[in-house]
Amino acid sequence: MKNAEMTCLIIKPDGVGKGLAGKIIDRFETEGFQLMAMRMIRPTQSLMEGFYAEHKGKPFLPAFLEFVVSGPLVVCVWKGMDVIVRVRQIIGSTDSQKAAPGTLRRVWGTDQRRNLVHASDSGSSAQREIEYFFSPEELSDYQPNAWKQAEEIVLC
Ligand code: CDP
Ligand code: MG
Repeated sequence: MKNAEMTCLIIKPDGVGKGLAGKIIDRFETEGFQLMAMRMIRPTQSLMEGFYAEHKGKPFLPAFLEFVVSGPLVVCVWKGMDVIVRVRQIIGSTDSQKAAPGTLRRVWGTDQRRNLVHASDSGSSAQREIEYFFSPEELSDYQPNAWKQAEEIVLC
């Protein structure tokens, strides 16, 4: 895919716990993004402290870390044109109550802490976050339309 970017999306414990992982993944597949990697993890405090290092010292961090390690996470990598900014638009702003109508956080999130998902906010954070969870070999690049074309050939 020409000029395609990658982004890191994490389904937080509230998203997994509410049984919404499939619906969240479906939203990004429907958008036409390509799933390149996915893993369910049981996060530790130190793993997530490192991931959210930019927020070190902020007053909300202790309570947020307690929430984000309270259950399993699903970590994914998505690829597509302008995927970083488009995924941020689809999830909505940080506070679920104030996020735009129709965004994932507004529809399924609870508040500014329990907001369903994380998504990279820039090219540099996407690179750092993808490398934080996945080695290069774990990112599977493939032709998204190969199966469709194969089926068309069989049907001809
Ligand atoms: O995730 P996003 O980039 O929208 O927000 P952030 O400012 O980078 O904050 C990271 C995460 O910390 C948020 O997604 C919230 O889950 C949490 N947070 C919080 O618990 N309380 C706040 N006042 C702000 C953020
Ligand atoms: Mg952020």
